[in-house]
Formats: sequence, C-alpha cells, structure tokens
Amino acid sequence: MTYPIKLVVNGRKFSPRVEGDETLLHLLREKLGVKGVKAGCESGECGACTVLVDGQPVNSCLILAARCDGKSVLTVEGLRANPQMAILEQAFLEKGAVQCGFCSPGMIISAHSLLQKSPHPTEDEVREAISGNLCRCTGYAKIVEAILAAARRMGEVET
Ligand code: FES
Ligand code: FES
Repeated sequence: MTYPIKLVVNGRKFSPRVEGDETLLHLLREKLGVKGVKAGCESGECGACTVLVDGQPVNSCLILAARCDGKSVLTVEGLRANPQMAILEQAFLEKGAVQCGFCSPGMIISAHSLLQKSPHPTEDEVREAISGNLCRCTGYAKIVEAILAAARRMGEVET
C-alpha cells in the first residue's frame, strides 16, 4: 500500500506516493533522484545519509518517508546556492578533508547545521557535531580543521 505525501526537497515541491516502510533515504535517492545523499550502512551507524529535516540533522535511513509529509528536507545539493557552501567546500579541499569523498555530503550537512547554530564553534563542538558521521579515510583531524577554518572564514566574510 502506498500513501501520498507532500514535501519540499531543496526548495522544490514534490508529491510522491510512498510505501509505509519506505525510508526517506530511499525516497530521495531512488524516486527523487537526489544522489548526493549516500546510502552506507542503512542502519543509523555511519551518517553518510545525513540530511536536514525542518532544519534538524537526521539519518535519512532511519526516518520513514511517510513521516516527512509536510516537511522541508535539505541535502548537500540544496546547499549549492548557499555562499557558505563554497567556503566549506574550499576548506575541505585545502585541508585534505576529502579522500574517497563518500562521507563528505553527510559531513558537510552536519557542519552546515553546526555553523548555523554556532558560527564560532570550539573544536569540541565540531567533534560533537560530526560524531555521528563516520569517515574511514581521513582520521577526522583534517575534517575538524576544515570546519574550524571555514568558520573563521565565514566570520571574516561577515565583518
Ligand atoms: S546510511 Fe544512514 S546512517 Fe549509515
Ligand atoms: S573521505 Fe572516505 S570515508 Fe571520509
């Protein structure tokens, strides 16, 4: 049985029909073609599927699509128009925080969420914000450096 829902993804309105047990991750990737959201463990362990739902970071593999009726979802694709995205991306590249890149969309969403709430985070706050995002390549130090560098740059842009 399928259910009609309405949601906004990266500023675009969609009205898909979803299965009762269908995850938001499946809806995004397989029905709406939003491939920036990565399917890793699909059990809430890796954070590769992190998106914002009504501004809150969630593992999209753990939330049912039907629960997202009326909600607004932001993925890494939706950040392209955000000037902060260019700064984050540049910092990730400069600091060597991207290797295979599989974790990067989820990391960027978690970092963006943190910087929205806390524009001048401490290292501990950064580590806490990305604690649900696994990276098997970088050892995290470069990712933490990149997010701190991006936060500094965003502060300079604002002043
Ligand atoms: S794919 Fe969702 S947490 Fe790993
Ligand atoms: S860069 Fe490969 S998993 Fe993070």
